[in-house]
Amino acid sequence: FSPAEAASNRFAFEAIGTSVADDVVVPPGFKAEVLVRWGDPLWSDAQEFDHATRGTAASQERAFGDNTDGMDVFFHNGKTLLVVNNEYTNRDILWGNNPDAKPASDDDIAKGMMAHGVSVVEIANTDGKWHIVKDSPYNRRITPNTEMELTGPAAGHDLMKTAADPAGKKALGTWNNCGNGATPWGTYLACEENFNGYFSSSEDVQDDNPKSITPEMKRYGVSTKDWGYGWAKIDERFDVAKHANEPNRAGYVVEIDPSDPNSNPKKRTALGRFKHENAETVINNDGRVVIYMGDDERGEFLYRYVSNGVYAAGVDTDELMENGTLSVAKFNENGTGAWIPLTPETTGLGSQAEIQIHTRQAASAVGATTMDRPEWVAANPKEAEIYCCLTNNKNRGVKTNAGGDETPAMGPNPREKNNYGQIVRWRPDAGDHTTPGFTWDLYVLAGNPTVHSDAYAGSSNVNADNMFNSPDGLAFDANGLLWIQTDGSYKNEGDFAGQGNNQMLAGDPVTGEIRRFLVGPKECEVTGLCWSPDRRTMFVGIQHPGERGDSHWPEGGDAVPRSAIITVTRDDGGLLG
Ligand code: FEO
Ligand code: CA
Ligand code: CA
Ligand code: CA
Repeated sequence: FSPAEAASNRFAFEAIGTSVADDVVVPPGFKAEVLVRWGDPLWSDAQEFDHATRGTAASQERAFGDNTDGMDVFFHNGKTLLVVNNEYTNRDILWGNNPDAKPASDDDIAKGMMAHGVSVVEIANTDGKWHIVKDSPYNRRITPNTEMELTGPAAGHDLMKTAADPAGKKALGTWNNCGNGATPWGTYLACEENFNGYFSSSEDVQDDNPKSITPEMKRYGVSTKDWGYGWAKIDERFDVAKHANEPNRAGYVVEIDPSDPNSNPKKRTALGRFKHENAETVINNDGRVVIYMGDDERGEFLYRYVSNGVYAAGVDTDELMENGTLSVAKFNENGTGAWIPLTPETTGLGSQAEIQIHTRQAASAVGATTMDRPEWVAANPKEAEIYCCLTNNKNRGVKTNAGGDETPAMGPNPREKNNYGQIVRWRPDAGDHTTPGFTWDLYVLAGNPTVHSDAYAGSSNVNADNMFNSPDGLAFDANGLLWIQTDGSYKNEGDFAGQGNNQMLAGDPVTGEIRRFLVGPKECEVTGLCWSPDRRTMFVGIQHPGERGDSHWPEGGDAVPRSAIITVTRDDGGLLG
């Protein structure tokens, strides 16, 4: 299985069937093994995971976080460093009190907090198996309490100033980091997604029109109640009645330097504030840095950032990430589209800083196209072509974010009720990622041809053997194969009959053929994908197994289900992508 053979045969595996087993299934000739699980200590003086208590805030702060999501591998000084988002936590699993899911103590709340953020962990391959390197000087937990720099146009603006940070330039922590990105200069991009669900208000909680919740907060889903995490009880900055500007300091892309464990992560306001899914970075032909980003909410938008400066060895990369143009996508029915810059002139918002903070409102002002929940974006390494998962839109017209736009079925969002999702792709005019114009089509319209015969059967590259729903994670391998991960219904009945557990498939961008490669355990989502530097190991994230109480993966028996990263290798040691 040489690289030449790999290139001539993109699908170097046999497609597998669906599965409803509480296990990871891969094709014959491949092996899946657990690398690191929620609660595994990153230092040898930290406690092993305790299935009875599920740990404490103190043990969690020294352990791998919960709900693995976006991740990437970096090679530095001969060390392999894995950087992983820990998006959120299943509270009933974390606290062991299903279905109550209420914290019994302040330590419970703090434990939940410490399960969030980013884990940096050195990994090594010895005797043919990957493992984490405890006590590596690079190991690091970045949590909602880690000091970070606010950078770019919004840094220092009045809307960013708080009692604890009167200059508006230093924020504490990151949470709900969903997908990721990586830069060519060796940094990691963690994307803040559902940051709103952690804020609450100590005032007018019963009020239908609470005055502590501004229209600007409503557009981002901030309300008087949090989603059950309880953070305001132990840290007042999550109480918007007392600290109205705190939500303005979340919802960004955070740049992390894994080679320097003492560095402060940098929140990049130039990339806009929304529910960031991932940040796909491309170096344009002229050297400018281009970052494509989705805002994962029904009826929100797709964005593109273009740096002013060009990337070259030795340039100031802070400047590339602070000065540039943020644009939003408008799709036309005829297969064309355009990127519309978000500036004070185009949006009518008073300043560039306000645009970077109230990015959703700015995008609405220029008439951007509302989308069916943009999840991961991935760039084809073989040509100027970008793909984005539009995961689903179960209730078109019903918005979770007040003040958003109408969401008609149109263009790349063609179906009225959309519980299967689709993948849109676009090609920038003249292969130039900085031009306004592009052409688009749908790579796949997911569906179920065993249940439906209309548009809900899916596009012609969907059949009874490869069907899936709710594409979410998306990444190209170096060989030009598109890997698709799902976060959808695992009911395996009705509209979803025969689709089994969430899964990972591979698609040929040229022929459109799609084959199923991996199926996850019960009630999980498959999310996060990267490769070892030698491309012989694929790292895959298994998030929230047993989120409804029916999994004991990966340990089996009566064990607590634990989100984990697995390695996938070929038995013959060959390349995977
Ligand atoms: Fe965290 Fe949009 O998925
Ligand atoms: Ca996702
Ligand atoms: Ca999703
Ligand atoms: Ca998820």
